[in-house]
Order: sequence, then structure tokens, then C-alpha cells
Amino acid sequence: MSNTWFIKDKLFTKYLSSEEIQNSVRSLAARINQDMTDKNPVFIVVLNGAFIFAADLLKKVRVDCEIVFVKLSSYSGTQSTGNVLEVMGLDISLKNRHVIIIEDIVDTGLTLHRFLDKVRAMEPADVRIASCLLKPDAFKMDYSIDYLCFSIPNEFVVGYGLDYDGLGRNSADIYKILNT
Ligand code: IMP
Ligand code: MG
Repeated sequence: MSNTWFIKDKLFTKYLSSEEIQNSVRSLAARINQDMTDKNPVFIVVLNGAFIFAADLLKKVRVDCEIVFVKLSSYSGTQSTGNVLEVMGLDISLKNRHVIIIEDIVDTGLTLHRFLDKVRAMEPADVRIASCLLKPDAFKMDYSIDYLCFSIPNEFVVGYGLDYDGLGRNSADIYKILNT
């Protein structure tokens, strides 16, 4: 694929290659395999954005586990609205379970902060977070990202599941916005 991508009204340029991403995903999976031995974890995949990251990561997870999906949405265009909308809910008990939430990107951290409250109220044994990307300069919360592939600058990115107004999810590489 080419180095630039025009989506709707914005130009993006390749930022993280598929190879870099896969290398990082592989080492993350290795750590999870070590940490979760005999723990029978529940992975909660946050849709829509995390679908590619979760698929790549979970193909490499070798421990017995369950995988469920929730749909949360807090974004409109390139701006966080601060309103967290849970569209598709959790349908299993998390009581005494080891939970790992899988996200595409943590920006301000507000989406996960609100979702974490809901998960913790279900009395799991332990909750961890796995995210492909983190924007540390935008992050305002006090929880930690236990499994992270990349810290990135405070710029808008697409690809590898991440979208700009619903577009741009369909790529193996990650692109960042080109400010002109
Ligand atoms: P937060 O609540 O500010 O942490 O935002 C988290 C959600 O906003 C993520 O799960 C993404 O869906 C979306 N988001 C944040 N930054 C970006 C970005 O750079 N590109 C695409 N989506 C983003
Ligand atoms: Mg998301």
C-alpha cells in the first residue's frame, strides 16, 4: 500500500508499518501467555476499533480463555465528545474472573475510565488493560495500561481498526494525519 491515504477530506501518511505492529503484538501475546497461565482469563474486546488488534493478539494467546465483545463509542469526527455510549453490553458474569480489556487506542482515557467502573462493579478477581496505542500527552486518568504496543504523540491516527468518521479501518498499517 502507498505511503499516503486520502480519507474523506483529510490526508494521512504511513506511520507504523504492519511489520512493526506485528512484532509488538507478538511480544505482548508472549507476556500475556506468561502472566495468564492457569488463570482462564476473560478478554473483553472493545468494538469497533479493537477488532483487528484483538484478532491478531488473540491468535497468539495460548492460554484457555473466553472472548466477549462490547461496543463503546465516545468519538465524533476527530474530537472526543466525552459522552460514553455503551451500545452492546456484557453478557457474562465476571465475578472472580481475571479480565483483560482489549482497546485500539487510549486517548484521554475517559472511555475506559467509565467502562472500568462497570467492570469493577462486577467483582472480577483482577482487571488489566491491553491497548495497541496510547497518547500519553492526552491521557488524564490514573489507571495504568498493562499491555501496550506503542505510545504515540497527540495526533490523530487511522488504520488497523481505527477510523476517521467510520472510514479508514481497513489497513494493516497505521497512518497519522498530515497537517497542512
Ligand atoms: P478516550 O476516551 O479519549 O481515551 O478515547 C478513546 C476512543 O476514542 C478510542 O477507543 C478510539 O475509538 C477513539 N480515538 C481516540 N484517538 C483516536 C485516533 O487518533 N484515531 C481514531 N480514533 C481515536
Ligand atoms: Mg475504541
